[in-house]
Amino acid sequence: MTRLDDLKAKVNLDNLPKHVAIIMDGNGRWAQKRSLPRNFGHQEGMERVIEIVECASQLGIKYLTLYAFSTENWKRPKTEIDGLMKILVLYIRRELDRLHKNNIKLNILGDISKLPELPRKEVIKAIDKTKNNTKMVLNIALNYGGRDEIINGIKDLYKDIEVGKINYDEIDANLFSNYLYTKGQPDPDLVIRPSGELRISNFLLYQIAYSEFWFSDILWPDFKENNLYEAIIDYQNRNRRFGGI
Ligand code: FPP
Repeated sequence: MTRLDDLKAKVNLDNLPKHVAIIMDGNGRWAQKRSLPRNFGHQEGMERVIEIVECASQLGIKYLTLYAFSTENWKRPKTEIDGLMKILVLYIRRELDRLHKNNIKLNILGDISKLPELPRKEVIKAIDKTKNNTKMVLNIALNYGGRDEIINGIKDLYKDIEVGKINYDEIDANLFSNYLYTKGQPDPDLVIRPSGELRISNFLLYQIAYSEFWFSDILWPDFKENNLYEAIIDYQNRNRRFGGI
């Protein structure tokens, strides 16, 4: 029996997290350890994206969110940003047919109007092609920032109040969640952050109020199916109380 078989036997399919969110960190360090340029780490990270998407959807996860590019990542050198955009285009070109065949719906969290034209067009094409798929929603956070998301949500809500679509008294946590990129989706049950960093980095700030966290020293390009199973099994052993007793 392999380690993966062992983990597959342990996972409780009746208590899967509905929504798993991952901060894919450590690509740069992975490359640095091998004296390679940082973009090699991102490229290897893309291979893990392909594997983890497949694994999560086969397992029965309904929502998978991957943090690919933050609003702060524009501060990186142009060569790295260009490399990341190329990898995004490559990913979509390589994987779109398979995502569609596997009934996965691609959704973007973030403002894609600011992306360069080619990745923007590829992303829009992929969203359109997969829009009616139902097995799993794959959210890719692209040009995403949690504070930006909340502020944009407040602005949109304000407009709806001004035109009389919403009454001030109706505003509650549930209503406000409809003004976020994750509108209509359950909050993440499990947030995974590899690479040894213990912070949230402006990721899904509103939605993670009651999420369980799983941290690990593994760098994202080394993150395998085993690690996803380990995180989920750990999650299944947590006692979630949502503020109750
Ligand atoms: C953080 O690692 C990672 C990113 C900023 C990019 C994540 C992108 C990918 C995995 C590429 C493929 C993605 C898709 C959706 C096709 P880092 O560069 O900050 O690593 P470091 O902390 O070791 O420097």
